[in-house]
Amino acid sequence: MIFLQRFWDCRGRMLLCCLLGSLWETGALQIHYSIPEEMEKGSFVGDIAKDLGLEPRKLSELGARIVSGGKQHFTLNVRSGSLVTADRLDREKICFGISICLLNVELLMEDKVKIYGLEVEVIDINDNAPRFRTDEVEIKINENAAPGLRFGLPSAKDPDVGVNSLQNYQLSQNNHFSLNVLSGIDGIKYPELVLERALDREEESVHHLLLKAWDGGEPGLSGTARIRVLVLDANDNAPVFTQSVYSVSVPENLPKGSRLLRVNATDSDEGVNGEVIYSFRNIDDKASEIFQLDSQTGQLLLVESLDYEESKIYEMEIQGQDGGGLMTSAKVLVRILDVNDNAPEVMVTSFTSSVPENSPPGTVVALLKVYDRDAGDNGHVTCSISDQLPFKLEKSYANYYSLVIDRALDREQISMYNVTVTVTDQGTPLLSTDTHIPLQVEDINDNSPNFGQTSYSAYIHENNARGSSIYSVTASDPDTKENAQLTYSISDYILHGVSLSSYISINSETGVLYALRSFDYEQFRDLQLQITVKDGGDPPLSSNVSLTLFILDQNDNAPEILYPTFPTDGSTGVELAPRSAESGYLVTKVVAVDGDSGQNAWLSYRLLKVTEPGLFSVGLHTGEIRTTRTFLDKDALKQSLVVAVADNGEPPLSTTVSVTVVVADSIPEILSDLSNLETTVHLEDESLTLYLVIAIVVISSLFFIFIVVLLVIKLRYRQNSRQLQSSSGQLKNIPPSPVCGPR
Ligand SMILES: *[C@@H]1O[C@H](CO)[C@@H](O)[C@H](O)[C@H]1NC(C)=O
Ligand SMILES: *[C@@H]1O[C@H](CO)[C@@H](O)[C@H](O)[C@H]1NC(C)=O
Ligand SMILES: *[C@@H]1O[C@H](CO)[C@@H](O)[C@H](O)[C@H]1NC(C)=O
Repeated sequence: MIFLQRFWDCRGRMLLCCLLGSLWETGALQIHYSIPEEMEKGSFVGDIAKDLGLEPRKLSELGARIVSGGKQHFTLNVRSGSLVTADRLDREKICFGISICLLNVELLMEDKVKIYGLEVEVIDINDNAPRFRTDEVEIKINENAAPGLRFGLPSAKDPDVGVNSLQNYQLSQNNHFSLNVLSGIDGIKYPELVLERALDREEESVHHLLLKAWDGGEPGLSGTARIRVLVLDANDNAPVFTQSVYSVSVPENLPKGSRLLRVNATDSDEGVNGEVIYSFRNIDDKASEIFQLDSQTGQLLLVESLDYEESKIYEMEIQGQDGGGLMTSAKVLVRILDVNDNAPEVMVTSFTSSVPENSPPGTVVALLKVYDRDAGDNGHVTCSISDQLPFKLEKSYANYYSLVIDRALDREQISMYNVTVTVTDQGTPLLSTDTHIPLQVEDINDNSPNFGQTSYSAYIHENNARGSSIYSVTASDPDTKENAQLTYSISDYILHGVSLSSYISINSETGVLYALRSFDYEQFRDLQLQITVKDGGDPPLSSNVSLTLFILDQNDNAPEILYPTFPTDGSTGVELAPRSAESGYLVTKVVAVDGDSGQNAWLSYRLLKVTEPGLFSVGLHTGEIRTTRTFLDKDALKQSLVVAVADNGEPPLSTTVSVTVVVADSIPEILSDLSNLETTVHLEDESLTLYLVIAIVVISSLFFIFIVVLLVIKLRYRQNSRQLQSSSGQLKNIPPSPVCGPR
């Protein structure tokens, strides 16, 4: 049985804990403290840390602070984790006219962006005595006033509440008057003087009375007013107000100087006894500043502006007194109507000025408090932001809203938001307030650097200068700052036994490529590079691109003769041509190559020097040496040819080669002739022309002499015509001499 009881106890307690826990989550549970007013500054109010179930030091770690707008009455002692008063609290100042003085304290946990509501009740102490507005009041009463007639007395005010406020009135002992205490609609007590026994001015013209008001505090306090009753000569009629209560409702924005209403009291006496003077009788200090009563006309005027938010109703007591001193009173009620004269207000309580672009949806970026001082629809506010923005507003505790991320952010698209929160009330006309929350989106390294192309090609002439720049690659990165700071590098590998880095280098900052060596087209024609660009983010992102460097040929190689070569291998080194060779006979072929390529390696052949002109020709592009006619007996046996081989470069390079052709039918024949051929070839080569010239000159001279002689003979024969006839027939038969001119 006992066991069962315990079980239920435990369950009950657990249930309570769960319930409390869930209430905390929603922020519905409020912590309630109470403290008497007029405590010293720094007085303990409540142990917040304990009531939130936290270690005292945890509060400061979580960045707890009090955020309630307006005057701060409390502060947080983060060391002890308790709430203390920030100054001496005067309940009558803070909650004037309010019976239960509750102060709301909002506690913000900066770290959790969470609000807790606390409620502190300030308990009244009896620190105010009842007080009359004036110390002395004079009342004039006609001597023939009938017993039972009532006269209003000033009432006292005690700003305390409950038993500490005004409880009752007491009148000093006397023979003519008694006190009657009335209760108003609001529970306020009004003292009245009641005439008990007829007065006689001739017996006693002035009565001194003392009115005492006391409260119910412990100890009780009291206030007094002296009342002087003047007994007047006959004045039969007291003034009578046309209404016992005058009421009017006015909008709070009524301009100063407006007439609110007019009170009217009539007195049927004649002369001074029938002239009514109006005045306030009971009016609080605030109302006496706002309203003015024209003593002659009874007009109630507005002299100060009204504010619904300050006071919604004013209640005043007025009196009309005739010249004879008789008076009556009436009440004036002025109800203030709310006008939508206060725009909603927004207070940004907590806010981060920048947010990383990868923040997940739901991240809180700002906490706002919205309020409107107007009442009803005029004070009913709605809060909105543009739906184009990737943010949304979420209602959190009470009139707090959190601005949270709704959709993913991208700094590369929008790097800065200026969120405009519009708060609108429901009044007529609608009033709204815009609050701007600037939000910077912080960069995250979410973009790799990007080369504009997938691959690059670069060209460079061989024999380049060392250190010359070859090419430049550029990548871009849409991120910012170090996330967009790019570093270029080349992947190294071994090329022809040498590491690539000894051929090419890259400026890691600019992406400019430099040749570290002079390239040789004949060694290799292209280079494959892989260039990597890396940004400075954490972690860094990179991308690759390939670059092919083509080396362009230059005409830096002269043609090289492969055949014929100098006879180093024991061969004769001469070409044979049979004596009987026909025209076009292929004697030999000059074979040459060029290390360059293209035009630079396109070879052409031509004869530079020959022993016998016109005997041989060389194919312009084939290099084939052919005879151009048959050999004659007078042709030398040994023919020397010099062939020039040139390439088509700019400028062209050339090489020469000598070819010796021996005209013979067999090898032995050559060998026997070889020794004496040597000199002849040289002779024919160099002196032939000279001998020919001499021979021609000699022959020409002889012919000239012969002609001269012939002419002389002819002249002799003209004298003897017969002889001339026969000699001219002989002359015709002389054959012409062969004429040999120089080549
Ligand atoms: C006051 O009331 C009386 C009686 O109703 C009326 O005759 C008189 O005209 C009123 N006076 C004013 C100023 O309204
Ligand atoms: C946000 O926008 C408002 C209105 O356009 C402007 O007044 C304010 O200066 C802007 N704030 C920033 C930080 O740009
Ligand atoms: C770039 O190339 C390097 C070396 O080949 C490799 O390790 C890296 O993964 C490549 N990076 C990308 C983004 O392709």
